[in-house]
Amino acid sequence: MKPLIDIKGVRHTYPTAGGPLPVLDGLDVTVQEGGFCAVVGPSGCGKSTLTRLVAGLMKPDEGEVWLHGELVKSPRSTVGMAFQNPVLLEWRSILKNVMLPLEIVPGGLKGRAAEERARYLLALVGLEGFEDKRPSELSGGMRQRASLCRALVHQPDVLILDEPFGALDAFTREDLWLTMHDVKAKEPFTAILITHDLREAIFLGDQVVVLSGRPARTQYVMDVHRAGTPTLEDLYTPEAAERLNILRRQIEIAQGRAA
Ligand SMILES: Nc1ncnc2c1ncn2[C@@H]1O[C@H](COP(=O)(O)OP(=O)(O)OP(=O)(O)O)[C@@H](O)[C@H]1O
Ligand SMILES: [Mg+2]
Repeated sequence: MKPLIDIKGVRHTYPTAGGPLPVLDGLDVTVQEGGFCAVVGPSGCGKSTLTRLVAGLMKPDEGEVWLHGELVKSPRSTVGMAFQNPVLLEWRSILKNVMLPLEIVPGGLKGRAAEERARYLLALVGLEGFEDKRPSELSGGMRQRASLCRALVHQPDVLILDEPFGALDAFTREDLWLTMHDVKAKEPFTAILITHDLREAIFLGDQVVVLSGRPARTQYVMDVHRAGTPTLEDLYTPEAAERLNILRRQIEIAQGRAA
């Protein structure tokens, strides 16, 4: 099978006032079509840099990023992104915020079809009835749900999530994990999720990639095999505890706190 996302030997250095800052130093990540890759690593190791390379917002100094068998050289409209801060536009309703990418991405749905698509997604994440509200009228978790709809509205092949649940309280975050599985069952996409939460990584990811400290390389890859959609109880099984232990240890190695 051909991977949908193929990151090969990526190296990148930022020029800074204090001199060159090597950030990525040999990154290899492969995600099959429909896969969900969770990426964890120490703070500042280059995870957001990785997302910018996959979205085509930047080119790596060395190595290659392939999406769908095409070398990424410029920004891709077939990518959807959501971040820790949902950055919704206050002067637009939730519905109009979700429809925004369809106004920007060429060839997207227009008019009635665009509105129906946005309403469908909002209902899917439990925001039916909130379409006409302004972002400030929603809770943080609801704003993040809307942001997820906006990232998916143009049916991107690749969804990039950069710590989208990082600012939410633990229970809201768990609700959103369940929503992610519901959405994934109905909307075909291949995802890269950046997270600092190891439970989130094993709950959502079918693969967890641990990056080393900066300059980051692929330090460890865990395949998470699961039968069907997980429940939150699955996080309290001996298998889950073992996976979390292995990842915790890998993070300590990445942070230079363990050999
Ligand atoms: N445009 C830029 N120019 C110069 N340096 C940058 C730029 N963007 C990021 N950096 C630096 O590169 C390093 C990696 O940044 P990046 O945002 O990719 O890390 P991260 O793993 O996402 O961090 P965090 O876990 O805190 O979100 C950091 O030291 C950051 O200061
Ligand atoms: Mg980041």
